[in-house]
Amino acid sequence: MKTDEPKKIYLQDYRPPDFEVQKVDLHFDLYEDFCRVQSTLRIRRLGTVRDLVLDGIDLQLEKITVDRKPWPSARYHISPESLTLDDVPDQFTLETVVKIFPDKNTDLEGLYRSGPMFCTQCEPQGFRKITYYLDRPDSMSQFTVTVAADKKKYPILLSNGNRAEQKDLPDGRHQVTWEDPFKKPAYLFALVAGDLGVIHDSFTTFSEKKIGLEIYAPHGQQERCWHAMECLKKAMKWDEERFGREYDLTAYLIVAVDDFNAGAMENKGLNIFNSRLVLADPISATDSDYFNIESVIAHEYFHNWTGNRVTLRDWFELSLKEGLTVFRDQEFSMDVGSRAVVRIESVNDLRQKQFSEDAGPNAHPIRPESCYAVDNFFTPTIYEKGAEVIRMMQTMVGRPGFRKGMDLYFSRYDGQAVTIEDFAQAIADANEQHWDQFQLWYSQAGTPTVTVEEDYDPVKKSYHLTLRQSCGPSPGQVVKKPFLIPLLIGLLRKDGSEVNLRHPDVTVNSEGQKILYLRDPEKTLLFHDLPEKPVLSLNRQFSAPVHLQWRATDEELLHLLAYDSDDFNRWEAGQILATQNLLVLTQAAQAGRSHAVSPALLAGLQKVLDNRSDPALQAMILQLPEDSYLVQMQAVLHAPAMSAARVQLELGIANGLQTLLRETYENLNGKNPHSRDPLDFGRRHLKNTALFYLSFLPGGADLAFKQFQQAKIMTDRQAALQALCDSESSLREQALQEFRDQWKNDTLVLNKWFALQASSRRRQTFSDVVKLWDHVDFNKKNPNRVYSLLWRFGENIPCFHDPTQPTYEFFADKIIEIDRYNPQVATRLSGSFNLWVKLPTTQKASAGRALQKMLRSNLSKNTYEIVSKALKAEDMAPTI
Ligand code: TRP
Ligand code: ZN
Repeated sequence: MKTDEPKKIYLQDYRPPDFEVQKVDLHFDLYEDFCRVQSTLRIRRLGTVRDLVLDGIDLQLEKITVDRKPWPSARYHISPESLTLDDVPDQFTLETVVKIFPDKNTDLEGLYRSGPMFCTQCEPQGFRKITYYLDRPDSMSQFTVTVAADKKKYPILLSNGNRAEQKDLPDGRHQVTWEDPFKKPAYLFALVAGDLGVIHDSFTTFSEKKIGLEIYAPHGQQERCWHAMECLKKAMKWDEERFGREYDLTAYLIVAVDDFNAGAMENKGLNIFNSRLVLADPISATDSDYFNIESVIAHEYFHNWTGNRVTLRDWFELSLKEGLTVFRDQEFSMDVGSRAVVRIESVNDLRQKQFSEDAGPNAHPIRPESCYAVDNFFTPTIYEKGAEVIRMMQTMVGRPGFRKGMDLYFSRYDGQAVTIEDFAQAIADANEQHWDQFQLWYSQAGTPTVTVEEDYDPVKKSYHLTLRQSCGPSPGQVVKKPFLIPLLIGLLRKDGSEVNLRHPDVTVNSEGQKILYLRDPEKTLLFHDLPEKPVLSLNRQFSAPVHLQWRATDEELLHLLAYDSDDFNRWEAGQILATQNLLVLTQAAQAGRSHAVSPALLAGLQKVLDNRSDPALQAMILQLPEDSYLVQMQAVLHAPAMSAARVQLELGIANGLQTLLRETYENLNGKNPHSRDPLDFGRRHLKNTALFYLSFLPGGADLAFKQFQQAKIMTDRQAALQALCDSESSLREQALQEFRDQWKNDTLVLNKWFALQASSRRRQTFSDVVKLWDHVDFNKKNPNRVYSLLWRFGENIPCFHDPTQPTYEFFADKIIEIDRYNPQVATRLSGSFNLWVKLPTTQKASAGRALQKMLRSNLSKNTYEIVSKALKAEDMAPTI
């Protein structure tokens, strides 16, 4: 039984540091089974506190001196998480030597082994597992780092900053010294040692500085890094042009590692990446892998200014760097690709992950006020919703105004550790705005709902538009104040043209966009001189992260789908039609009634497919909303009814649009397979969407199998295998077998093999997952492999919530097992239980038992936080 609940930390307890570390010198002696870390810190007292408390976990202290004299053992104390020195001088040099054991480090925080190499992950609090230190982001210092290791096994020794010195040592060892001229918090420290392949390139900045670019990967993999290199150069150029930001060291290094808990890490001058976000070639990586690499390479690069040069005061401010940097990487992807399609993809992602988080037991504001584990702050809310809040700022002041604000932010705060409020103030000051109400987006959790009511008077030719906002309760926040919601708006005439909107409450920003500000709980606008009822296009580009509740007619939605000049809202109109139909079909399936597929939806999709327009947009429009979004619209999660409804609609689309789908498929299949042009990405996406629907029809499995065998690139092979994975055809096994035989030595591709099976909607998926856990190729210590199997399964709503299978028990046992050696991975998996409060009674009881069992299992504080919050949510299941 768990006795001691982990301790919570609170934003309101923030105090500035009592000591400053003016200079850090680290010396690492790496051996196979241990590492000795010698640290020399120049320390100065800032306040009046006498004792110095340093963070440190799992460190074996071998030596401690102050100003080179041994520090008596009576004057220091070691606890499991700290080292306290009593009554230290005002200014002194502290030397410590500790022994650590990277090869026994299974949680992949601090210094650890990934295959034959050593690497680090310090964000947020891994540095304290390396040496005793003031491990907090507002403690910034200048680092010099020397790494010594066996020269044969570890010819490459890397750390942050510039290479300063290299020398050979006795016994076949060597050492390299790195100097980082910029002050930084410890979470940006990095070290890599190994025998790695590398590719080189360079970038010349706008002030003509030549930067050496180096990307390292396990030997033999380096040729797969060229796409990442191109992306890096594009990102460097873009940040110069769009935000005037220049790179500041002489070299920029990226290292790909196979074992990594998250996606990538922006350590100063030495990014460490999950290899799935660096390595790519057309036969092994899909178009979306290429896209993700581009966006994450850019994301980590952009952190050099938003995160590193200007950093965080404390971890509650995480969205200051993450929201802003996600916003920047999204803007980059939109500028180098298709704006509308990238926007649609981001919104889709936001709705699936963040909206569901915001409606569940782990809902929190983008600036949280308390937590058990700082590790748990890395959420879709902090990242994706944080980016939306910044996007609203940009919408309100327009791009030029936003750029002015960013310039002011950098000039005010370069080299400092600041807060979210500091950022908002800089953008507001540069644009003479007052954003008191807007700041509620930082402190209030939950997704607001905006309800739309329309009233057209044909006699007076007037149109009333009434908007009401509300936001349901979140844990710890029952009542909420009204948000400031900037809604981009347009009105369409029957011929598809745009009404020239003039209204005192509709503002035009510096980009000519029309904005309606909703500040109050309710607002009515009156528009005159409209000879016909206009069709409303609200929240264009998804300018505000809200749910729109709008009883539009099918006719109006079809009108938007066909004519809206805002591509986002064209797509949105299709999604609303599909959502409405799916919800009705689900209810019918649940009640054992039958109900028809929406003819309006079929007609709309038919038209979209028939008109040659942007193929990527066509593909997005043809895709139905995801289950995790649909669940948010329903009070009870009946997984079998939901999946019956989806299958019925998909079949309906496949049958109804058969001819066009076949034509589309034939036209596009096999064209330009090696082109990396965004237009060809879109064509392939459309073609594979057609294949997806065609695979439901007679002969569909053969078609998919044919594509599987003839595919020249992974995009096509994976799409075909995915279609087969959902089918009951005997070709399914054959394809899976062939795929595995072909790729058994490529860990990244094999992850796809696991993921496709875990995401399949067949009834047998659960028993497949159970078997795959014991598969020879499964490796429970590799986060990518675990996510491919378990995270994918947990997100597979029809199968994870299949009431006929003991899925929750199995999943809980695996989480308990993984939590013992890697809490961050276990925590991420436990999020799949967040939907449990919506389950029907019996199923809910069984999920509840699984959660209780976890809670009794002496969990890490990370997993404890998620599981205990899920259990507490029982009485307050929020619905919209
Ligand atoms: N700062 C990283 C990013 O957003 C995130 C990250 C990398 C991370 N590794 C992590 C977060 C480990 C938590 C744990 O780019
Ligand atoms: Zn980031």
